[in-house]
Amino acid sequence: MASRCIVLLVAVLLSSLLVVSSSASSSPCTFPAIFNFGDSNSDTGGMAAAFATVSEPNGETFFGEPAGRYCDGRLVIDFIAQTVGLPFLSAYLDSVGTNFSHGANFATAGSTIRRQNTTFFQTGYSPFSLDAQSWQFAQFKSRSQLAYKKGVSYKDQLPPEEYFSQALYTFDIGQNDLTSGYVSNMTTEEVKQTIPDILNKFTDVIKSVYGLGGRYFWIHNTGPFGCLPYVLDRYPLRAPEVDSVGCGAPFNEVAQLFNAELNETVAQLREAFPRAVFTYVDVYTVKYSLISHAEKNGKTHQC
Ligand SMILES: *[C@@H]1O[C@H](CO)[C@@H](O)[C@H](O)[C@H]1NC(C)=O
Ligand SMILES: *[C@@H]1O[C@H](CO)[C@@H](O)[C@H](O)[C@H]1NC(C)=O
Ligand SMILES: *[C@@H]1O[C@H](CO)[C@@H](O)[C@H](O)[C@H]1NC(C)=O
Ligand SMILES: *[C@@H]1O[C@H](CO)[C@@H](O)[C@H](O)[C@H]1NC(C)=O
Repeated sequence: MASRCIVLLVAVLLSSLLVVSSSASSSPCTFPAIFNFGDSNSDTGGMAAAFATVSEPNGETFFGEPAGRYCDGRLVIDFIAQTVGLPFLSAYLDSVGTNFSHGANFATAGSTIRRQNTTFFQTGYSPFSLDAQSWQFAQFKSRSQLAYKKGVSYKDQLPPEEYFSQALYTFDIGQNDLTSGYVSNMTTEEVKQTIPDILNKFTDVIKSVYGLGGRYFWIHNTGPFGCLPYVLDRYPLRAPEVDSVGCGAPFNEVAQLFNAELNETVAQLREAFPRAVFTYVDVYTVKYSLISHAEKNGKTHQC
C-alpha cells in the first residue's frame, strides 16, 4: 500500500504547488497521523506559540487572520494533511485549542538541523534544532501513551499507540543550516564543507524516530534559497553570479550540493532500514520552476 500511496501523494503535492487551488480530499492514503519536523517552510504555529505571533499580511488571504504560518496561504504541509484527509496539524508548542489526535508539528521557523552557537535573540535562529524537535517527539509519544494507560480525559486529543508506527513522518529542514554559514561569514566553499556534518546530524534524528516506531518517511530536499529576497538583499552578488531568473547562483549551487548529498543519505537510510519507506521529494525543482515562470503562474509559493 505504501509505495502506490506515496506516488499519488507526490502527484497531488506537485499539483497543489502548481495550481494554487487544490481540494484533494479523496485519496487512498490511509495515514492516521502526521508528525512533521522542520523550519518555516512547514511551521504551522510553533514559533508563534513560543515567541510572538506572526504578523499580517501573513494569513490574510486563506485563513482570514494570521495563522502562525510565515506565509499568506497554506503551506505544503497543510496540503499534505488535506490530501490524506486529516485536519491541519497543531503545533506541539501551542497550548491553546490544540488537538493532536491526528499528529503534531514540531517545526519552528528558523530551525536548523545542527544546534547553533548563537541565541534566537542574536541571530533569529530557532532554539528548537532538529535534535530538540526529536526529543519533543519522544516525550510526546511517551506522555501520550501514559495518558492512555491512565485513562485521563485529555487522551482523546492524543494519538493512540498504534498510530506511531502507521503515521507519515515528514521533514523539511536544512535551508537555515546553509544560510547560517553565510551569517557567520563563511565563504561558499566553507559552507559546502559543513554539509557532511549537517547530514550526519540529520541521519541521527531519522534513526531516533525510527527507534520510536516511525516507518514512513517523507523527506523534502531544500529549496533554491539563492532566490529568496532576504538572501539577495543581505549578500549582494556580482552581476555574473546572478542567473537569468535573478537568483544567486552560488547560493543555489550550495543548495544543489546539499540536495545531492541528502539524496545519497536517503539511499543509505533505505539500505540501513529495509522495513521502512523513505521518499525523497525534489522540492527544489518545483520551487525553481515556479520562480522561473512567476508571471505565468501568477503567485508563487516560496513559503
Ligand atoms: C480532534 O480531532 C479528531 C480527528 O480529527 C476528531 O475526531 C476529534 O473530534 C477532535 N477532538 C476535539 C476535542 O476537537
Ligand atoms: C558550534 O561550536 C562547536 C564547538 O566549537 C562546533 O563543533 C560546531 O560545529 C558549531 N556549530 C555550528 C552550527 O557552527
Ligand atoms: C561578519 O562580518 C560582518 C561585516 O564585517 C560583521 O559585522 C559581523 O560581526 C561578522 N559576523 C560574525 C559572526 O563574525
Ligand atoms: C536521487 O538519487 C537516485 C539514485 O539513488 C537517482 O535515481 C535520482 O534521480 C536522484 N534524485 C534526484 C531528484 O536527483
